[in-house]
Amino acid sequence: MAAPQGQSGEEREKSKRIGALAGLAPFILPYKWLVVLAGMALVLTATVSLILPLAVRRVVDGFETENAQLLDSYFSAALAIAGLLALGTGLRYYLVTRLGERVVADIRKAVFDRMIGMSPAFYEKVMTGEVLSRITTDTTLILSVIGSSVSVALRNVLIFLGGLVLMLLTSAKLTGMVLLLVPAVIVPIIVLGRRLRALSRENQDWIAASSGSASEALLSVQTVQAFTHEAQSRASFADVTERAFVSARKRIGTRAVMTIIVIFLVFSGVVGVLWIGARDVRADVMSVGELVQFVIYSVMVAGAVGALSEIWGELQRAAGATERLVDLLHAEDSVKDPAQPRTLPEPVKGAIGFEGVTFHYPTRPSQSALSGINLDVKPGETIALVGPSGAGKSTIIQLLLRFYDPQQGRVTLDGISLCDVTRAEFRHHVALVPQDPVIFADTARENIRFGRPDASDAEVEAAARAAAAHDFLARLPDGYDSYVGERGLMLSGGQKQRIAIARAILRDAPVLLLDEATSALDAESERAVQHAVDEMSADRTTIIVAHRLATVKKADRIVVFEEGRIVAEGTHDALVAEGGLYARLARLQFTEGVEDAA
Ligand SMILES: Nc1ncnc2c1ncn2[C@@H]1O[C@H](COP(=O)(O)OP(=O)(O)OP(=O)(O)O)[C@@H](O)[C@H]1O
Ligand SMILES: [Mg+2]
Repeated sequence: MAAPQGQSGEEREKSKRIGALAGLAPFILPYKWLVVLAGMALVLTATVSLILPLAVRRVVDGFETENAQLLDSYFSAALAIAGLLALGTGLRYYLVTRLGERVVADIRKAVFDRMIGMSPAFYEKVMTGEVLSRITTDTTLILSVIGSSVSVALRNVLIFLGGLVLMLLTSAKLTGMVLLLVPAVIVPIIVLGRRLRALSRENQDWIAASSGSASEALLSVQTVQAFTHEAQSRASFADVTERAFVSARKRIGTRAVMTIIVIFLVFSGVVGVLWIGARDVRADVMSVGELVQFVIYSVMVAGAVGALSEIWGELQRAAGATERLVDLLHAEDSVKDPAQPRTLPEPVKGAIGFEGVTFHYPTRPSQSALSGINLDVKPGETIALVGPSGAGKSTIIQLLLRFYDPQQGRVTLDGISLCDVTRAEFRHHVALVPQDPVIFADTARENIRFGRPDASDAEVEAAARAAAAHDFLARLPDGYDSYVGERGLMLSGGQKQRIAIARAILRDAPVLLLDEATSALDAESERAVQHAVDEMSADRTTIIVAHRLATVKKADRIVVFEEGRIVAEGTHDALVAEGGLYARLARLQFTEGVEDAA
């Protein structure tokens, strides 16, 4: 399997290391007060931790001064310090974790807001499951960073710096020796850190790919099982999951090596320095209390370095995740709303125009789906698009909804190019029954109401009646309130279609688009729906795509498509008389049955 998510290695190289975390700034900024408070708690606890060894030295050396009262006061001071430490730590935990949760919730919403508005071209290249993984797993990484790692890192930086200064004050000679060891520790952190970063990103990519693979198979579980494809599905999911594991193992291994090297170097250095310190104490150059204090500080500093090297890896993982989410947030959409949108003159009449439209799908630049289409639909007119499968009929509808922009020519509504108004504005005036009816995991009622969220129950029912859906809906166990399952799993094909039609009827828009809307209906339901469609289309612009010519016979005009071009147009009778492709299709459909019967 190729590297997941069509990103080239070059782009990966460009990844801006820890700096990518800056992408989080816009999300953190609104909560700067939380950050300030958390920062204060952090500085408080770090300071207190740094003071603690001073108190310890006093206590140790105090045994010799034999002043009982002073000793008491040192112990009560130590107690107060412990209290401050506990309070500060708790406060920091609360503030920082809360900030993390808040920011992650905001990021999830922002990414979803962006994704739900992306045009279909985007999803031709990105798997939905991958996007979902970004929104869930990647944000979890960010949560762990904002909600803990960053504050732990800052705390350790403070401890490191403060501890170093205090070590210096305690014994400049010993500190100097410790500092000589620093480069030895930093070098492996930098070298291995670079490798860690690449591995983290690779790991996240494979996790996302494995979600993508799982969601695709699970969404089509019936087809998978019907074709006894489970073994292949299992194998391909296992494959990406194993790759995710392998890249995780490499990442963990690298980090483990880094931890071993760093901890060993740091502590062996401390031991060496202590050895020298112990000799100083024996030579009376240093008090026992001072040595103890120095030991505590150097252990603190060493611990801080160890913690930082560990957190570094985590920060890098989060940087990778942030980068990916920011990529999604700024993903280019091939279809954009204009900067200065015009508004459609009210009321919208529903005149549709295709002016010299040539179009190929973005993923198939060499193959035109439509070429040189000129089509004028007058307000209130009903036109039918017919033609062989793959001729471009659904593509006309996709362009009418501006899911894509044509490479040449323009599509207009009431004379205004769709590119000059916002998509939301004109889509408001369009009702669609798509070729594959889409049903949501909700009740039948809410599925119909999707067409117009403010519709009353009575209006929903009226729409259902018009779509010949009322009878079957009323017979469901909970009537209109029956749950219909994910993607309408609990409904028949024809029932789904009727709900989709009812939804479009309820929308009550001046332009009605029906793409094979009645293809799954029995003759009787189709006649009933046809009747409803006829009534609806009387006063609105209607475009019907149908293979069954009986359903389009009554259209004002029939437009015949073949290989992305309009090859004929006219009424049923005129086209039959003309004797072209349409006449051939009509002969097949209208006479074959008779011949069979004869
Ligand atoms: N998203 C897409 N990306 C690339 N090519 C596409 C896409 N959708 C459709 N096509 C191609 O565009 C051409 C026209 O497809 P279209 O869906 O418009 O056909 P149609 O006339 O609606 O056919 P049918 O009657 O089978 O529904 C076909 O060759 C199809 O393979
Ligand atoms: Mg189609």
